[in-house]
Parts: sequence; C-alpha cells; structure tokens
Amino acid sequence: MCGIVGYVGPKDCSDVLVSALTKLEYRGYDSAGIAVFDNSEIKTVKTKGKLKDLEDKLVETGKPEGHVGIGHTRWATHGEPSDVNSHPHSGARVTIVHNGIIENYIELKEFLTSKGRTFISDTDTEVIAQLLDYKYNGNPLETISSVMAELKGSFALGIMFRDFPDRVFAVRRESPLIVGVAKGECFIASDVPAILKYTKNYYLLDHDEIATLTKDGAAFVDKHLAPVQKDLKTADWDMEAAEKGGYPHFMIKEIYEQPTAIKTTVIPRIKDGLPCLEECGITLEKIKDFKNIAIVACGTAMHAGMVGKYVIESLARVPVTVDIASEFRYRDPIIGKGDLVIIISQSGETADSLAALRLAKQTGAVTLAIVNAKGSSIAREADMLIYTLAGPEIAVASTKAYITQLSVMYLFAFELALAKQTISTDECKRLVSSLLKMPDAVQNIIDNCEEKCKYIATKLITADNLLYIGRGLDYALSMEGSLKLKEVSYIHSESYAAGELKHGTISLIDDGMPVIAVATQSAIIAKTISNIVEVKSRGAKVILVCTDVCARDLNDGIADHIIEMPHSEELLMPITAVVPLQLLAYYTSVDRGIDPDKPRNLAKSVTVE
Ligand code: M6R
Repeated sequence: MCGIVGYVGPKDCSDVLVSALTKLEYRGYDSAGIAVFDNSEIKTVKTKGKLKDLEDKLVETGKPEGHVGIGHTRWATHGEPSDVNSHPHSGARVTIVHNGIIENYIELKEFLTSKGRTFISDTDTEVIAQLLDYKYNGNPLETISSVMAELKGSFALGIMFRDFPDRVFAVRRESPLIVGVAKGECFIASDVPAILKYTKNYYLLDHDEIATLTKDGAAFVDKHLAPVQKDLKTADWDMEAAEKGGYPHFMIKEIYEQPTAIKTTVIPRIKDGLPCLEECGITLEKIKDFKNIAIVACGTAMHAGMVGKYVIESLARVPVTVDIASEFRYRDPIIGKGDLVIIISQSGETADSLAALRLAKQTGAVTLAIVNAKGSSIAREADMLIYTLAGPEIAVASTKAYITQLSVMYLFAFELALAKQTISTDECKRLVSSLLKMPDAVQNIIDNCEEKCKYIATKLITADNLLYIGRGLDYALSMEGSLKLKEVSYIHSESYAAGELKHGTISLIDDGMPVIAVATQSAIIAKTISNIVEVKSRGAKVILVCTDVCARDLNDGIADHIIEMPHSEELLMPITAVVPLQLLAYYTSVDRGIDPDKPRNLAKSVTVE
C-alpha cells in the first residue's frame, strides 16, 4: 500500500527520490519522507501529509545533499498518519523504508524491548529497523538474511547501513519491488513508472531475494546469500504514458484512453476473425473440459468478474461463481481438479487475490490470471495468463483497467463457447466483429455524453445518498457505477438489483433522492421501467442510462435526465455503458472539490490483507 524508492548515482539524490515518489503517490499519500547520506551521515526529512508537504519541508529545513538514499510515500496501517509514524525509520546504525505488513511485530517489539530497545513510533516498520540494528554484525547481507528469517508477513524494504554510505540494500517478500539500472546509477521502486524518467531497464526482485545497489550496478543474492543471476527487463511504457499529458487528472485521462486500451488489448488476440489466445497458453483443447468456473477478485476487478459470469454462462453454459477474494480465501471453497479459477487484478499484487490464487492452485484447480501489471506476482504464479494491455493506470479509481478486463472476459467467453461448441464459428465471428467496434463506440460516448454527464453531476453534488439499479448485465454494471461514485465523491451509494428493491430497500427512497437506473437490455427493459416508475412515484430523481432503442419506448417524464447511448450488441453494452457512469463519478468528485486521483483512505494497490 505504500510506495518505496531508492537511488545510488551521480544525480542529486533528494531530487531523484522526490521525483520518483511523485509517480508512486497513488500507492499512498498520507505522509512521505526521504533519507540521504549527507557527508556520511544519514539525514532524514519526513512529514505527515502529501508529497507537496514533504517538498515544502525540504525547502524549509534544507534538503539533504548526497548521492545515496531512500524514500517513501505512506498509506497508514500501523499508527495514524503523523510525522513520527512517517518513514524512513531508524535504529542506531540503520535506516529503512517499508511497504507491507509485519504480522509478528508485537512479539518482535516485546523481544526488543526486553533487550532495552525503545521505540518512538507505532509502526511495525520501526521494529524491523531496530531488529536490523540489534542483529547487525558488520555484514549487511548476513544481517538482512537473519532478520528475514524472523519476519512474518509482507515486506519490500529499502535499507541503508550507516557504515556503508555508498550503497542501498533492498529485499522483498510478497510486496512488489523492482531494481532499475542505468549507466553509473541504480534505483529501487515499488512500481515501474517511478523510474521511467531515468531508465527503462529493470530487474524484478523475487521473493526473499536481496539486492545490493552501488553506482557500479546491482547484485543479487537469495536468502542463503547465494548469488542469483537475473534477466534484465525493458519497460514498454514510456514516461508520457505515465504522466497526465495535459489532463487535469489521471482519472479523466484514463477514461479518455479507453478506446485505445480496448484496441491494444483485443486486436492482437484476434486471428481470422476469431479469438486466438494461444500466446496466453489458452487453446480450445485446454479449456473444453472445465465444468465449473470460479472468478475471484476485489473491488472493480470483481465487478468485471460479475459481467464475466453473465457472459460466460450465457454463451458457454458453464456455471460461474464470483467471489470477493477476501471471502473466498477463508471460506473453504468447493473447487478442485477439473475446475478453472480466474483471478482478475489490475496490479497483480492485491494480497487477497494473490492468496486466493495460491489457494486455488493448492486445490488442484487450473488458474487463469487476467492482470495489467507485467511481471506482477499474480501474473507470474498463474497457470495461464492474459494481460490486459491498458498501460499504467495511475488514478486510484480504476477505469481503463476495468474496460480492458471486460474486453478480456468477452474474448475468453467467446473462446470457451467455441470450445464447448455452444456457439457456431459464424456466431463467434459476429461477436468478435462487434467487440472490434467497441473502441469507436466508447469514443462516440465520450464525445457525445460528456457534457450531459458534467451537467447531471452538478445535480448530484448535494446528495447524501444515491441508488444505482439495473437488472442482469445492467445490475452487474451498476455495481461498478456505484463504487466509482462513492470512492471519488464520498457520497454514500449502493447498487441494487432493480427487482429486489420492493423487498426492503425501496423504503429508503424519499423526496429528491437520486436513483441512477441502467437499462440497456431490451429483453428486460419493461421490467426495469416498472421499477423506475416505482421509485419515481415515491419522489426519486431518476437519471436513466439507456440505449436509443430502449429510449424509444419510454413514456414522457419517466426520468428526470436521460443519458442516451447508441445501441450496440447488447451482450457487450457494459463496455459502453460504463463510460457515462465513470464520467458522472469523475465530475461529481471534481464539483465537490475532491481530488479524484487521490480519494481519502484509499490506495491504488492493496498489498495488505
Ligand atoms: O489491483 P487490483 O485490480 O487487484 O485491485 C482490486 C481493487 O482494489 C481495485 O479494483 C479497486 O476496487 C479499484 N481501484 C477501485 O476503483
């Protein structure tokens, strides 16, 4: 949940660290800090607040001058956001930054206290710093290895030892960490965008590996201190892709990038008009015998799974369950040999989704990961892998990752339906051709609906509560619409299956309460309309998101505002209909004076349970 960086090289270290941290602020932004070797002394500057507050403090106190250092942007887990709980944390001879959670920190703290150590923060991280200092024997690698053996939980650490002012050490277990290299300099970072300004070349640190960074390069050992040879990777994201490019926020930039993201994700997976997932390890032969599918994910990714369930069941007639990963992993799920478990994750590092993947593998089920971040843990550990090629998603609120997750779910459902022979080749070609039209359809909605969404957002900003309703695919989609709005606007909102309202929830409706109804499926439009009439007659202000075909049959006055979209293949409508919901959320957030890229209490990558 936090972002860590480190640098060794000729540049001004404080500047490099702060600049790299700006690319990781999405991982946490309640405090920030850096530590730099300044004349062989480790000088630390840290503060509660955003990176801007750290920059102000560096001006105030004078920035550390040096060429070796580490930095951190925090999403608090242990201890409130405060100056003292901010990273870096130190023992007498060691200073560290940490991303992750140490599960046995209380035992370790008690042990260290019994040895006369005192603590100034409430963090689990300070315990690691003190333990490193306690165990320090003059050899950093031996010390790190012996501390790793004591730690339970997840960690990516950047470490500086007072006696080694020319180097930074790094180690990881579970939490992500990369080591960037360029001529005469090395970097560590929690994610690739942090180093792109300086280099595209990096190594992925594996679990329990330790890296030593000097100006001459990076060296790696395993936890037994045996040398490890690693493959150098090259990022195919450029800086511009990771920057705002003139947009006021990443969220709107990423909404605008959706047509391209769909194209990039879908086109390489089509051959002769049919899905071709061979490069992802998926063939008709390999998937034809699955009898049950479990889709497991968190948040937005889980909502993409909800759409996937409808589509797979409808086309391939295979039963699909959708689980929240944090529930799945603790409920002894009924899966095993012959079943397929699909894990969906933008970051590929979400702790619960990763644990669910490992659990699924233990049961003997085959696993398929749908992941955006290249080389992430989930991507590496799954049996089969389809990358969503959305590029870096920086805004905390997921938009282009969701739309590409949907695109992949469709491709997979088409392929499965072919394998199961529940659709003909011609029908599959027709569906693929409709999918290929989606980038233009999404562009059309951005071009034609944005102004209306902007206007409707001005009507939502004073609401305290909101409901999203829909049936079938529209219900699955309304879950995502509701999450998007609540996370970036802080307006309480729920999504409900429209037909279920009468069984309790309709009592919430009172005069002026906004209800956003999604109605894109002509087979059930009449049913949804009845539900809209029910809420409208009880005082709701209805915002209806529907297709032009559905709009044709509407009576005047059925809704207060209608966002009308061109009709396209109905099974694929979630891809287009999500766009107005994203735009509504974005503009409501902006109108309420909130920074949609950094909603309070949230972090982009949830690498702790
Ligand atoms: O990285 P993941 O896709 O595994 O993250 C899962 C959720 O935390 C994520 O989808 C979250 O709900 C969205 N960022 C919300 O917009």
